[in-house]
Amino acid sequence: MGVSMSEEKVTVSVIKADVGSVVGHSKPHPSMLEASREVLRDAQKQGVVEDFYVTRVGDDINLFMTHYKGAGNRDVHGAAWECFQRAAKIAKSMKLYAAGQDILTDAFSGNVKGAGPGSAEFSFVERKSEPLLFFMADKTEPSAYSPILSRIFLDPFTTTGLVIDARAKMGFDVEIQDVMDHKKVVMSSPEETLSILSLLGDTSRYAIKRIDSRAGIGPACVVSTDKLNLTAGKYVGKDDPVCVCRAQSGLPSVGEYLQPFVNPTIVAGWMRGSHYGALYPCSPEDSDPVYFDGPPRICCLGFQLNDGKLQGLEPMNSKNGEHVPVDFFKGETWNKAREDAIKASMLMRSQGPFMPSILGPEEMEYTSRPEVLSSLTSRFENIE
Ligand code: 13P
Ligand code: 13P
Ligand code: MG
Ligand code: MG
Repeated sequence: MGVSMSEEKVTVSVIKADVGSVVGHSKPHPSMLEASREVLRDAQKQGVVEDFYVTRVGDDINLFMTHYKGAGNRDVHGAAWECFQRAAKIAKSMKLYAAGQDILTDAFSGNVKGAGPGSAEFSFVERKSEPLLFFMADKTEPSAYSPILSRIFLDPFTTTGLVIDARAKMGFDVEIQDVMDHKKVVMSSPEETLSILSLLGDTSRYAIKRIDSRAGIGPACVVSTDKLNLTAGKYVGKDDPVCVCRAQSGLPSVGEYLQPFVNPTIVAGWMRGSHYGALYPCSPEDSDPVYFDGPPRICCLGFQLNDGKLQGLEPMNSKNGEHVPVDFFKGETWNKAREDAIKASMLMRSQGPFMPSILGPEEMEYTSRPEVLSSLTSRFENIE
């Protein structure tokens, strides 16, 4: 505990859930975030987590945690579960919207998987310097990261490092999940790049779970894909996803990770989980959905890891222990990308309740079609 032994693996766990928000699907009440901080402060005192940071994107509470207990640890997941229980209780007491939305079971069974919250975790030996990026998205789904991670890890016109950094040039192993058949496959870039893209292009079926370095650096990034399965017999694919990344020195640089967000990426999941819109890069402070429950937001916070602790910009001798991450999408540099995202989202909206503004029939979170069709059974006639 405290100081990592050089070969001991540190684990970064991000566990997130929407357990209710103020005014529709907008934002959690600040007291819900504070209750989560209290739970994690206790967990830190008890040695369950090494360090933590609590934030949000739109209506989703995100818990960043570091520890030496490995992925899927009962105590770490239990602490996250407790955060969401307390926050949901507050949300219910205030009659907030969709209070307890992502809590799908009554009893904690040792892991949040299958219980509603999403998680992205990876373990690695901490390098001499370990820059971490935490991407958080609201009003979209895990495969939203597929086009972005494809540009970062498969496209040398985005990541020049794939050409000029000898270790990045050795390529990456990409774990892809098949939602429908509940299977996964690991494919290697650059050899299989075009085949990887052939799968990932179908964002309704395939999503990237994680990407590993082939130069022995370990994991590069991991995405929360927990709900990409059949939960309780019903397909629940939409879950506002997080993606945690390690950067630099044989991995994409921080700037290479950020490059794809200049383009408006069209993703599924805003308004009733049933529409396509463009990802809007912004600060968590600016992540309230304000236009048609969106547009889908993407935030990026950065920390350096320091012997398992999250090192941000907090002032020297800071007393309250609250971290200050680098907020990459906050500044004016992204104004043009934001304008483009609004423009693209408005174009999608101008199509009304027609595809491609709305999702394909098998992906719609809301649909009245079965009732409409059954009411028309006796009226449908064969065409001569
Ligand atoms: P520095 O030369 O500032 O370390 O930057 C290297 C780098 O990788 C920037 O992307
Ligand atoms: P969330 O998934 O962020 O709760 O949004 C639900 C929705 O459909 C908003 O229109
Ligand atoms: Mg919500
Ligand atoms: Mg949300």
